[in-house]
Amino acid sequence: MSGYWLSKLTLTHFRNYGAASLTLDQRPVVLCGENGAGKTNILEGISLLSPGRGLRRAAYSDMTQSGATAPWSVFATVETPTGPVAIGTGPKPDSGPDAQTRVVRIDQQPASTISALSDHVRVLWLTPAMDGLFTGPAGDRRRFLDRLVLAVDPGHGSQVNAFERAMRDRNRLNADAGADPAWLDALEDRMAETGTAIAAGRMDAVARLTDAIAEARREGIDDVFPWSGLALSGWLESRLENMAAVEVEDQYRAMLRESRISDRQAGRTLTGPHRSDLNVSHGPKAIAARLASTGEQKALLIGLILAHARLVATSLGGAAPILLLDEIAAHLDEGRRAALFDRVIGLGGQAWMTGTDREVFAPIEDRALTARVTSGTVEFLD
Ligand SMILES: Nc1ncnc2c1ncn2[C@@H]1O[C@H](COP(=O)(O)OP(=O)(O)OP(=O)(O)O)[C@@H](O)[C@H]1O
Ligand SMILES: [Mg+2]
Repeated sequence: MSGYWLSKLTLTHFRNYGAASLTLDQRPVVLCGENGAGKTNILEGISLLSPGRGLRRAAYSDMTQSGATAPWSVFATVETPTGPVAIGTGPKPDSGPDAQTRVVRIDQQPASTISALSDHVRVLWLTPAMDGLFTGPAGDRRRFLDRLVLAVDPGHGSQVNAFERAMRDRNRLNADAGADPAWLDALEDRMAETGTAIAAGRMDAVARLTDAIAEARREGIDDVFPWSGLALSGWLESRLENMAAVEVEDQYRAMLRESRISDRQAGRTLTGPHRSDLNVSHGPKAIAARLASTGEQKALLIGLILAHARLVATSLGGAAPILLLDEIAAHLDEGRRAALFDRVIGLGGQAWMTGTDREVFAPIEDRALTARVTSGTVEFLD
């Protein structure tokens, strides 16, 4: 299988990088270096080649190198099944130090929205911050879920944004008991339409991921990383299981209308796709993922990301996504580490892996490009 890969990456005034330019080939990239050297910063730069605020969900202003007089930028040449694409991104020009939006150029042309990135490259990541995914707040799992959907359905992001915008406007308007009901109607129409589409998109992606997991089990691929059972819970999702989407949309619209008073009292919208949750279970043990041990949860998460990467590859006609695996090898035993490296190489997309200890990557050394990162510089090792 082939996949997406970066042949060139340039970070300018980005975090602790003044100017760093990396020339790469299709092999996995291993970044070694001490704490604070700048390994995760590189992965964050790459994650900005997909829509959203990157793997730290940081403010764009925090990404500019402290003391720099110009804003940050990330440039990359992405090798895709249809040829190379030049992608550049950075905060919106003249938006000052508190930039809320960023701009994207694709082959030198400004893109109208950052979701256009999904047409050219797919990036998935796993970071230590996601270790608490199964035990933490539902909002984190929802975001994880929506990123997962986005990777197979690029239109999902704009539905989520449109829903959130309409909900914000409705909440603001509804705060006033004398608000114009026709205006509320219009916003609720929009919420019902986009909300139902979001829930349907999630259901579809979860069903496809469940199929991909089942297929991997049949092929014996996931014997090391346990398989996940996935289920969605939510007002819309549960209705979509046995009702047509148009009917669910009507019911949600009616629900919103009836809830104006209770929502006003609560100061928010109490029902909708922004309240759904992704319930993951540890397949072989048949227990909720949140009850599994730390190591089991990590292995489960890796299995989930690998299944997702395979699904993305299948939905893109065999092109595997770029994988960013931050500090992934550190807590795995030797056998699991070797299995992970084999899986990653088998997928065929470019994988980026970080660690403080080069030794850990010894089993993959001959098949990877290894670099040492030292306070904002990157040096490739033989
Ligand atoms: N805007 C910025 N300007 C300059 N330096 C920054 C900026 N933002 C973060 N840094 C610095 O970048 C450094 C590297 O961070 P990074 O998270 O990439 O390290 P790392 O190599 O992944 O370390 P660890 O092994 O601890 O995860 C940190 O010392 C941090 O203070
Ligand atoms: Mg790090």
